[in-house]
Amino acid sequence: MRKLAAGNWKMNGTRAGLDMVTALLAAQPNPGCDMLLCPPATLISAMTAAARGSRLMVGAQDCHAKPSGAHTGDLAAPMLADAGATHVILGHSERRADHGETDDQVCAKAEAALAAGLVAIVCLGETEDQRDVGQTLDVIAAQLDGSVPAGATAANLVIACEPVWAIGTGRTPTLAQIAEVHGFLRARLATLVGVAAAETRLLYGGSVKPGNAAEIFALPHVDGALVGGASLKAEDFAPIVAALSAA
Ligand code: 13P
Repeated sequence: MRKLAAGNWKMNGTRAGLDMVTALLAAQPNPGCDMLLCPPATLISAMTAAARGSRLMVGAQDCHAKPSGAHTGDLAAPMLADAGATHVILGHSERRADHGETDDQVCAKAEAALAAGLVAIVCLGETEDQRDVGQTLDVIAAQLDGSVPAGATAANLVIACEPVWAIGTGRTPTLAQIAEVHGFLRARLATLVGVAAAETRLLYGGSVKPGNAAEIFALPHVDGALVGGASLKAEDFAPIVAALSAA
């Protein structure tokens, strides 16, 4: 399977930040993995133009479950595809926390993404309290079961496992903890999508940096990363792409 280095810019970036794309493509013109950046929706068109002719793909960070309609401020999956997006992040823990998104809603959004021809990157992850009381596997199993849409295949679904307590904190799970969760997810996914589970990309997310990328990418069942802060600068993201290419 081709691994995936994905960046989530979250609510960061203006057109001035697209200089980063030029620098990234200069550093990694032909990476040995797939390379994706998900900027704010305001930048999807401009980033798509900046990436034209390159190996960089552009994605979105959320979509509505409906293809159109009276939903002021929301964006539909076909609009994101029209702007140039090929992927969309769904169910990120920040959206689950800030907007109260449920597994049912994430699943409906993922169905809409697939219908629009987008790859759905479905995010899961336990909080620190849940990990402390030993609920990690139960929590991510429930999120996985509830969020994976009908019709998911290895080509249109990516799972990103991001422990909430590792996001933006500089803290990461131990390598053994990541390996345990990803091995569990692979087996659980097989109960949902069958043999496609073996080829579905399972990304790790949470404080991935150039300094820890290689050891995380060496783990079984880690098929790439969803990178937040370190995806904003080429000098941080390019070495992560290089580490994944070498894994
Ligand atoms: P950080 O890499 O900044 O911890 O963010 C991870 C994340 O939430 C990516 O979606």
